[in-house]
Amino acid sequence: MIRIAAVGDVHMDEDVVGRFRPALDQLPEQADVLLLAGDLTRHGTESEARCVATEFGGLGVPVIAVLGNHDHHCDQVPQVVKVLEDAGILVLEGDATVVEHDGVRLGVAGVKGFGGGFAGRSASAFGEPEMKAFIKTTDDSADSLAAALIGLRCDIRVALTHYAPVPETLAGEPPEIYPFLGSYLLGQAIDAAPTALAIHGHAHSGSERGTTPGGVRVRNVAHPVIKQAYSVFHVGDQGH
Ligand SMILES: [Fe+2]
Ligand SMILES: [Fe+2]
Repeated sequence: MIRIAAVGDVHMDEDVVGRFRPALDQLPEQADVLLLAGDLTRHGTESEARCVATEFGGLGVPVIAVLGNHDHHCDQVPQVVKVLEDAGILVLEGDATVVEHDGVRLGVAGVKGFGGGFAGRSASAFGEPEMKAFIKTTDDSADSLAAALIGLRCDIRVALTHYAPVPETLAGEPPEIYPFLGSYLLGQAIDAAPTALAIHGHAHSGSERGTTPGGVRVRNVAHPVIKQAYSVFHVGDQGH
């Protein structure tokens, strides 16, 4: 059994520093690892990344993150990643890591992901080059997630994304914006390997629980949804 804490969409800036820390200081008693599901900052600046480092650095458990769309906004991704990694926060994008706890190897594969929508109502790579580029971004992201999950050698596999892999966890959002909140291609990628849990954020007005077509439990941990510093999931090596 491994205990996985997760939160997304903390949207840190100087005004938010300190909001999560009291609960985070208790985290090592509650969980063995912390996953951050993107939108760690408001606008993706280096100074906001330093706020993330202050709040989520030095927790005493491994912290593994993906970035979100907000973390890309100011085109400072390399600087943001460097600040986070200097604080000991591992940032995944199309790759994976394994952390060991009490002899159990937890594998986490992460990508930001992208939009496109869900089966029956999804965008397709047809027509203008801009439309093809949009869908290629999602396609490439999903492919790298699938490859990272399949390549993991571990006891428990977890997928970490910012964008949603299923529509169930978007319930509460306006249906018109579902194509900007996630893609079924991410769900297919998660189902490409025996994944125990899929964590995402991004959908602030969405719902907490969903399941991929292949039966993998999906949890939207966007802070406005879970309304706490983090949720904790207990995952056994049978995937339950
Ligand atoms: Fe967000
Ligand atoms: Fe987002």
